[in-house]
Amino acid sequence: MSYGQHIIPHNFSVTKEGRNSLYGHLSGVFWLTGLSGAGKSTLADLASKRLFEHRIGHYILDGDNTRKGLCHDLGFTMEERRENIRRVAEVARMMSDAGLVVLVSLISPMQDDRNLARAIIGQSQFFEVFVDCPVEVCVSRDPKGLYQKAMAGEIVQFTGIDSPYEVPECPDLTLDTASGSREELAVEFVDFILHRIK
Ligand code: ADX
Repeated sequence: MSYGQHIIPHNFSVTKEGRNSLYGHLSGVFWLTGLSGAGKSTLADLASKRLFEHRIGHYILDGDNTRKGLCHDLGFTMEERRENIRRVAEVARMMSDAGLVVLVSLISPMQDDRNLARAIIGQSQFFEVFVDCPVEVCVSRDPKGLYQKAMAGEIVQFTGIDSPYEVPECPDLTLDTASGSREELAVEFVDFILHRIK
């Protein structure tokens, strides 16, 4: 249900372009997708520290955090994940419009839902980053003990166990955390970001 037909958006005087020139860099959304335990949040954190050193205004939208507030009412059915992704994409779009570099860390398992995020944010502002790691490696890492619970049936609809993950069809960047060092991958990620915002 949408009540949008009687809403007329307001165009404010100061624009994204104005804010970009004020801050000295462009903005954009760098969308990290991958299995739980693949290293999305770790890479976002390492990249954030480097962006801070480069004096780049940025923010991390992480599923484990947004699900405590903005998306606290959502579970893990495919419909709820899609709504989770839609809400976070809308927030990311506003933050990018505000002039920030936004690092989104969401499993976002379905290509259609990532395409929805791209459509909300805009083709030129959205970069899909695949944090690639085989499920067996994620299971062996199991940093939160959730895979063990999922395999014991204590958690259902767990991505990679009894819920699907669709590998990105055409990611803008792939970071393979099963073979690369996290620090080196973070450098590669930040270089990728800097090339797009400078
Ligand atoms: S998404 O699929 O909707 O994009 P999101 O990234 O927000 O997922 O949340 C994933 C986090 O929730 C994981 O890091 C994990 O800690 C936790 N989690 C709890 N239950 C599940 C589940 N059934 N499937 C995947 N992750 C889960």
